This record gives sequence, structure tokens and C-alpha cells, in this order.
Amino acid sequence: MQVGRRALATAAGSVVLAAVAVIGGVARTGWLVAVGLAGLGLVLVLLALDERRRARAVARALERRGTRLRGEVEALAVEIATLREEVGGLRAEVPVSVDAAAERTAVRAETAVHLLEGTLLTEAQALQQLLARYSPTVPLPDVAGWALAPSAILRLVDLVERMPLDLVVECGSGTSTLWISHALRQRGRGRLVSLEHNARFAERTRALLADHGLAEYAEVRHCPLVPRATPHGEQSWYDVDAATLDDVGLLVVDGPPERTGPAARYPALPVLRRSLAPGATVVVDDVQRPDEAAAVRDWLREDPTLTKEWLPVRGVQVLRVVG
Ligand SMILES: C[S@@+](CC[C@H](N)C(=O)[O-])C[C@H]1O[C@@H](n2cnc3c(N)ncnc32)[C@H](O)[C@@H]1O
Repeated sequence: MQVGRRALATAAGSVVLAAVAVIGGVARTGWLVAVGLAGLGLVLVLLALDERRRARAVARALERRGTRLRGEVEALAVEIATLREEVGGLRAEVPVSVDAAAERTAVRAETAVHLLEGTLLTEAQALQQLLARYSPTVPLPDVAGWALAPSAILRLVDLVERMPLDLVVECGSGTSTLWISHALRQRGRGRLVSLEHNARFAERTRALLADHGLAEYAEVRHCPLVPRATPHGEQSWYDVDAATLDDVGLLVVDGPPERTGPAARYPALPVLRRSLAPGATVVVDDVQRPDEAAAVRDWLREDPTLTKEWLPVRGVQVLRVVG
């Protein structure tokens, strides 16, 4: 607009100048000079008008660019406002979700502590009952993750004492060998054959039995792991002659250790099924693990004479031979 006004002023000035020149020219130098000056004035007027036109075009272009920029600025303002709102929302949420996560973790930790407390009390109670029942006077072996828990052993010795048959077979020797032998002594008859793949542990368990005066109730048989034929193909298992184990009333499956191979305990039933007496009981430890759970499922599927029995001990499954 400024430029337009300047062009108009220039044009007007040129007309006035031309008029003055014409009047002055007529008065002083005659018509010829006047016509020349008038022509010059006309050229100046045309130039001024052209400049005005261009100035208007520039002004319109600037106006358009300004409008576009205003639109962009407005869009940015809307975007910023939206982002502000989102950030505000997130701010409001963060402390709540952090608090909720901390709360959930605390509840989980508390539940775990309660469960642990419960487990410890259950195990302490079971151990107390075992000690009261058999009164061992010689130091007991160290126990840790590998041994059957006192709650499982308590159920096991109950089964041993009430068992109608006399032979117990155990896969994997250790603390359980000691307690089963105590139960056999209490019972007054019967014997245990404990299969052990590791010569050192076999010797250790024999020494433990001797220390407790229980050697006559249990035979710890060193049976290295060898390939055995099973319905699932050849698998590594104890090198034991099943024919030497007849009329088994109770089979305890707590070995070989899982690190010895996949489905390490599955061969127990395929190899020893014929040795089990009708009505025999099979106790399997560690069924919370996938391999042991799968072994139990496979046995039940492959042998319709087996049924599941309930035992209130975590990680232990009892099966009964009904045929
Ligand atoms: C799951 S444990 C079975 C132990 C046994 N049934 C018991 O309840 O103590 C399987 C194997 O662990 C090994 N074992 C035995 N006593 C052990 C000990 N004190 N430390 C580490 N491994 C042991 C033996 O080779 C045994 O066959």
C-alpha cells in the first residue's frame, strides 16, 4: 500500500510538473518547447502508472504470502496446544502408573513371602514328625534342592509302613533312602533297592545307612546310565536287570537327575512296569517340571492299568497300578 501511494504521488507530481512546464514553456519559449515538455510529462505519467501497477502486484503477492504464513502459524498453534494437552495427560498418568506398579510388586513380594512362610512351616512340621517318629540319633545328611522334601518323605514313609508288599525300589539315592529304611525297620519287614547312577553318591548313601544302623534294610545298587529301549526309542537310564526286581509294592522315581538328559525319568515305567505288583504305588517327584509332567502323562496314556491318586504334596504325583 505504501508503495502504491508513492507511485500515485510520483504520477501526480509528474502531471503537475508537466503542466507547469507547458504553461512556462508557452509563456517563455514558444509552442515547440511546450509540446516537447508535454510529451515528456506524458511519458513520466505513464511510467508512474506502470510503477503503481507493479507496486500493487507486489503488495498483493505479499498479502497472499502473509495470509499463508498466518495459516501456518495458526496450524502450529493448534498442534502445540494438542501436544501440551497430551503432555499434561501423561504427567497426570505417570505417578499413578508408577505407584500402581510399585503396589503390584509389593503385593507379589508379600504373597511370595507368605507362601515361603507356609512352605517352611509345612516342611518344619513334617521334619518334626519324622524326627518324632524314628528318633534318629546320628547326624542327618545335608539336604538341599536335590533331596525329597520332608513333607514328601512323610507321605512316603506312611506308604511304606502301610504297604502290603515288601519290596520298595527307588530311583536316585540320598536322604530318602535313609527315611525309607527307617520306615522299613519300624514296619519290621521289607527291603529297599535304591538305584544310583553315580558311584560316589552310591558309596555316600551306603555309608549313611551304615552310620544309622540301617544297612540291612537297603541295598544301594550302583547302576550307571546306559541306553535302554523304550516306546520313545533308546534312552539313557539305569543299567538294572528288571528281572531281579519282582513284586515291587512301591516305586519311587526321583532320579536320574534331569541334567543327565531329556525326559531322563520316562524309562522308569517302560523298564520296570513288569516288576510292579498289582496294586503297586508309583511316587514321582518334581512333576512341576515339564519333563517329569510329560513322563507321567505318557505313562498314563500308554498304560491303561495306571491311575492317578491325589497326594497333598506340591511337586509329587502318585500313581496306582490297578490291573
Ligand atoms: C533328585 S536326587 C535324589 C536324591 C534322593 N532321592 C533324596 O531324596 O535325597 C538325584 C541324584 O542326586 C544325586 N545326589 C544324591 N545326594 C546328593 C547330594 N548330597 N548332593 C548332590 N547330589 C546328590 C544322586 O546321584 C541322586 O541319584
